[in-house]
Amino acid sequence: MRRRNRWCSMAIRKRPEDLRSHRWLGVDDMRSFGHRSRFRGVGYDAADWTGKPVIGIINTWSDINPCHTHLRSRAENVKRGVLQAGGFPLELPAMSLAETYMKPTTMLYRNLLAMETEELLRSQPIDGAVLMGGCDKTTPGLIMGAISMGIPAIYVPAGPMLRGNWRGEYLGSGSDVWKYWTEKRAGNITDDDWEEIEGGIARSFGTCMVMGTAATMMAIAEALGLTLPGFSSIPAPDSNHPRMSTVAGRRIVDMVWEDLTPSKILTPAAFDNAIKVHMAMGGSTNAIIHVVAMARRAGIPLDMEKFDQLSREIPVLANVRPSGKYLMEDFFYAGGLRALMQNMCDKLDLSCLTVTGKSVGENIEGAKVHKAEVIRMLNDPVYGEGATAVLRGNLAPNGCVIKPAAADPRFLKHRGKAIAFDDYNHMMREIERDDLDVTPDHILVLKNAGPQGGPGMPEWGMLPIPKRLLGQGVRDMIRISDGRMSGTSYGACILHVAPESFVGGPLALVKTGDEIEIDVDKRLIHLHVSDQELARRKAAWKKPAPKYERGYGALFSDHIGQADQGCDFDFLQSTAPTPEPEIH
Ligand code: FES
Repeated sequence: MRRRNRWCSMAIRKRPEDLRSHRWLGVDDMRSFGHRSRFRGVGYDAADWTGKPVIGIINTWSDINPCHTHLRSRAENVKRGVLQAGGFPLELPAMSLAETYMKPTTMLYRNLLAMETEELLRSQPIDGAVLMGGCDKTTPGLIMGAISMGIPAIYVPAGPMLRGNWRGEYLGSGSDVWKYWTEKRAGNITDDDWEEIEGGIARSFGTCMVMGTAATMMAIAEALGLTLPGFSSIPAPDSNHPRMSTVAGRRIVDMVWEDLTPSKILTPAAFDNAIKVHMAMGGSTNAIIHVVAMARRAGIPLDMEKFDQLSREIPVLANVRPSGKYLMEDFFYAGGLRALMQNMCDKLDLSCLTVTGKSVGENIEGAKVHKAEVIRMLNDPVYGEGATAVLRGNLAPNGCVIKPAAADPRFLKHRGKAIAFDDYNHMMREIERDDLDVTPDHILVLKNAGPQGGPGMPEWGMLPIPKRLLGQGVRDMIRISDGRMSGTSYGACILHVAPESFVGGPLALVKTGDEIEIDVDKRLIHLHVSDQELARRKAAWKKPAPKYERGYGALFSDHIGQADQGCDFDFLQSTAPTPEPEIH
């Protein structure tokens, strides 16, 4: 906040007649008459738009999304900033993708939000965009759309909710749900305890406050240079949040005049910075899919190898659950993302341009860690390597991922017998059986949880520990699937197996009793079944019936990419220019 006077230093290049909105509002013809008269009809007049950038505030507020409850009023803070800077703010609602409620999974709709964002901006007289989101898929959806549209855009993160509380102990979103649900299944807590936890785990509006997908993606947006420095970890109810929203409103107006578009910010070096920050944050595995998709929208052919390469260079520094001990509120008090990036500044490209018009280096200058236990130094990390490792082998020819810091270390090198489940319902039936033939060394395999098979690649990858093992105190074992897992989840879960089983990937061929070998150090996943036997099983495999015959689901199924490609639609990945709409 204090540095705002140092921003906006780029030379002003655009003139009012260069604005996109000028074609709608600034010319003298019948259509423009219509546009202006309708604005006048709701109380605006020429002073509101003449010579001013029109700022579209894409707001994913919704009554059904508690993570975004405050975005309704934050949009007013953004508008105040836009007006202060001489812009014309217009709020444009977009679908909210409420992680908790949307079924079968918000991932089915990320690309729909990206399309909606892009077309809301393209089809209307908008010169610059403020993107308001935070709940998991909203961040990549908004950013992917804004990248493809290509006008100046700044991201306003919703921010994490306050710490949860139960009898004086901090509770973390998701992570403590999984933990205490397991204890309830094991008979270690009562129904009353469980109800008390339900009342204490979400104490305010805002996103999940562990290092889940929301916190990870908000941090990645900041590391990419798409949000104001320090914004991504401000707790949603903190008064810094509305103030920063107003600053974002002011800043986007200048970005329009400066023509500071995403293409000038999103370079390969910016994505490297974002991936390194992801590793240092101990970020969600979901981020891999989203960052690949965002990069490809920007014309950067990023793949999972880059994640694996950088994961070997960057240790986990943020001591935040599920990989660490604290919560995002603590991370903010410890100095937030600017402090973390300052701690690893030798690893970052500090010259990358950001929405401030300044470099990453200038944005983090002077940032300090105030709680060394929460944001660690490179020589005293939470975990020696980064957040995610990419494994390959005959079971996952196009790769799969694991979050080693969140797994029991004994499973990072392991060989065991598979118990294979055909789908989620099959798995849930078996897992509760008292007579299931299972030991802690078995490997649970879930099929048909991928982009097409889920559908939408749901967060089923943290398979429940079989009931029979819970009573023995078992809390982790290897689980393999072509699905995702929540960023709030933990354990030896191997995810995103590509290609997925639904399209005939090798995961479809696994049978109960097969041996599977994992070696995270060697980045290996191997199904110990002969090539001849696998070929025989493949020949006998039958492609499942399509999940959808019509509607958006059918569009999704026909065009969705695999996890290693970022799960974008094939027709959205191109960077070919889309024409501006004709106004007739
Ligand atoms: Fe919205 Fe977790 S449910 S961020």
